[in-house]
Amino acid sequence: KMNLKGRNFLTLKDFTPEEITYLIDLAADLKEKKKKGIPVDHYRGKNVALIFEKTSTRTRCAFEVAAHDMGMGTTYLDPSGSQIGKKESIEDTARVLGRMFDGIEYRGYGQEIVEDLAKYAGVPVWNGLTNEYHPTQMLADMLTIREHFGELKGLKLVYMGDARYNMGNSLMIACSKLGMDFVACTTKEYFPNEELVATCRGYAKESGARITLTEDVKEGTKDADIIYTDVWVSMGEPDEVWEKRIKELSPYKVTKEVMANAKESAIFLHCLPAFHDLKTKIGAAMYEKFGVKDMEVTDEVFESAQSKVFDEAENRMHTIKAVMVATLGEF
Ligand code: CP
Ligand code: NVA
Repeated sequence: KMNLKGRNFLTLKDFTPEEITYLIDLAADLKEKKKKGIPVDHYRGKNVALIFEKTSTRTRCAFEVAAHDMGMGTTYLDPSGSQIGKKESIEDTARVLGRMFDGIEYRGYGQEIVEDLAKYAGVPVWNGLTNEYHPTQMLADMLTIREHFGELKGLKLVYMGDARYNMGNSLMIACSKLGMDFVACTTKEYFPNEELVATCRGYAKESGARITLTEDVKEGTKDADIIYTDVWVSMGEPDEVWEKRIKELSPYKVTKEVMANAKESAIFLHCLPAFHDLKTKIGAAMYEKFGVKDMEVTDEVFESAQSKVFDEAENRMHTIKAVMVATLGEF
């Protein structure tokens, strides 16, 4: 049995394949218990702080519901309502919150901020997304894939779009640690950085995974088990980059043809939120400006039977619960 009590959860680079598998197993167990109505609520008296310097639907709700299921109290600090970063340094904030809370979630900008928080807090810190990594999302994705295919090893996951950011980076780490083939299918400019690729090739050597970077959609997506994409412009990036991204990443949009080139049994995943129609403010504005009805994925693929994005979204809650249970102490 693994003991992760007291550990931070900042990036999957810090965890062994066995520890990651243990967290996925624990999440599956907690999910089953929740479905059966068996409570796991012996964390009464514990409290967690949820710091969001960027907006969120899934991550915030997952932490809140998971914490409440566990019997814990939560305090949500929104992007504007605290002293963090403006009147008070991360070090001081960490030392204050560490005196009151049993764990701290942080979503924001640079990875160094969440690392700093963890250094000074004295309680477990959980990364709810930084520019560089989105590790809680990885556990949800891997649980979803495992539920669907029954295993992870040997599957081929293709990531299309901007692979230099949190999602591309994190998927490459998760796949290479867990023995899955990872393909970044995009233009060279959007390939993940060489240092991280080299690190992940090291993990891949241990696990039997393969890492491929390709600009060729036909070759890249051939026989894929999972086609994955993310928004072309991430939170915190300037609006001006939309035009360039639409131009450069449109060949890597997930379409019916892309899905047809993958295995017949392939599934589509997306961390969400997604631009697949005109029902969002930004989507509608982009249509006005550039005439594009969808971005990274067509509505047809998003709404198809191959799309498992809402199973994936639900799994955010079960996997985040597993991270809290494991790092606060299972018993
Ligand atoms: N996938 C994800 O992190 O969603 P939110 O931004 O809504 O939390
Ligand atoms: N890459 C996206 C992921 C959102 C969950 C972003 O950082 O905005």
